[in-house]
Amino acid sequence: MEIKRTKIVDIFDASLVGTTVRVKGWVKTRRGNKYVQFVALNDGSTIKNIQIVFDLQKFTEEQLKPITTGAAIHVEGQLVESLGKGQSVEIQAETLEIYGTADPETYPLQKKGHTLEFLRDIAHLRPRTNTFGAVLRIRHALAFAIHKYFNERGFFYLNTPLITGSDCEGAGAMFQVTTLNLNDLPKKEDGTVDYEQDFFGKPTSLTVSGQLEGELGATALGQIYTFGPTFRAENSNTPRHLAEFWMIEPEMAFYDITDNMDLAEDFIKHCVSYALENCADDINFLAQMYDKELVNRLKFIVENDFVRLTYTEGVDILMKSGKKFEFPVSWGIDLQSEHERYLVEEHFKKPVILTDYPKEIKAFYMKLNDDGKTVRAMDVLFPMIGEIIGGSQREESYDKLLARIEELHIPMKDMWWYLDTRRFGTVPHSGFGLGFERLVLFVTGMTNIRDVIPFPRTPKRAEF
Ligand code: 4AD
Ligand code: MG
Repeated sequence: MEIKRTKIVDIFDASLVGTTVRVKGWVKTRRGNKYVQFVALNDGSTIKNIQIVFDLQKFTEEQLKPITTGAAIHVEGQLVESLGKGQSVEIQAETLEIYGTADPETYPLQKKGHTLEFLRDIAHLRPRTNTFGAVLRIRHALAFAIHKYFNERGFFYLNTPLITGSDCEGAGAMFQVTTLNLNDLPKKEDGTVDYEQDFFGKPTSLTVSGQLEGELGATALGQIYTFGPTFRAENSNTPRHLAEFWMIEPEMAFYDITDNMDLAEDFIKHCVSYALENCADDINFLAQMYDKELVNRLKFIVENDFVRLTYTEGVDILMKSGKKFEFPVSWGIDLQSEHERYLVEEHFKKPVILTDYPKEIKAFYMKLNDDGKTVRAMDVLFPMIGEIIGGSQREESYDKLLARIEELHIPMKDMWWYLDTRRFGTVPHSGFGLGFERLVLFVTGMTNIRDVIPFPRTPKRAEF
């Protein structure tokens, strides 16, 4: 019987020692002398490589010549305990098949130690590096942990549309979606574009958030979550913004702001502790390469309560801090990353949930407090990241919501379906949005959001 392929992640199982195994993967390195050659092979299933030993009595130099960094090979041989340092087991090669060579002259990952910037230019190949292998496996584990978390608590996964006909969230500039010929636009008599001839018969865009549709789901199924891509066309070239990013948006009927904060804190702790338990090899690798404090920081999040305070209290602390900020602080300003990070990293030295922001700087749908000035918003602020979650209790009163919509001149023709949730069986409800890449950024300890998504979309970049 033919031996099945063993993935490298499974090869370190002690029961396999002494048996013949078959592995397939990509060559990391080859070294040795004229008697014996050592190949480090990786197949993406783990950060670990398996060492393969080629005895030159069994193989000719000519046969081994195509085994260069990046080549894909298939090897069969005995798994034996290794005498060398750095690995527990190795394979004594008996057969070799070369699937594909990688010319050392032109293979971009021939050498080690490329900068992360350089790797962004070869995003089509960077998943083969140790760093991106680790990041992408952690990203997968976190996505799985998120679905698991909500499934175990009776939340339903709701798929909200990516193409939207309403522009009301106000979360950011939108990408227009059209099938009109931009070089020959149909015009109305008054000279403006005739969108009746467009695919949907009206202007449409890519969604900035699934929340508004999520509320439709929550006021029917009780508690739902979305997990999908969202798009924002702001020209913000920062290490924390993408034009296309993934967001998780739970929305819960009968939740007030405190229930919402409790869920957000428990949820994010669950994600971090899942990664600590299930991605130890990858996290330890990244810690060793980039950030010695990573594991401590992750444990700290899981083990400590988040600090909860109001925006007004937060602004007070910032104003009394005596610190010179690039953007000066006063009540009413939209907090910048430098302010958020001061509260988290310097003042409290803990994650912070800031609530009750001025209504002017938050979305129209947030529940107005009795003071008439602030809304029941909550932002979760994290070390190194700043805002990782944004959410709120929603305004459930039809009259108050309508008043706010009119105050902000949001076109009613776009909003009738949303207002219907408040006309028919309205309930107190709340929800939040977690930026998935900001979570992956935090858990991996990477410092640029472009390095935690396989193919980043940022201004002037959509190559791969
Ligand atoms: O605070 P935001 O804009 O909130 C919403 O979109 C609400 N509809 C969420 C809700 O209540 N259901 O975005 C939520 C989170 C932010 O806290 C941040 O983590 C992330 O999404 N985010 C981005 N991540 C990467 N690139 C961007 N351009 C981002 N903009 C927001
Ligand atoms: Mg926000």
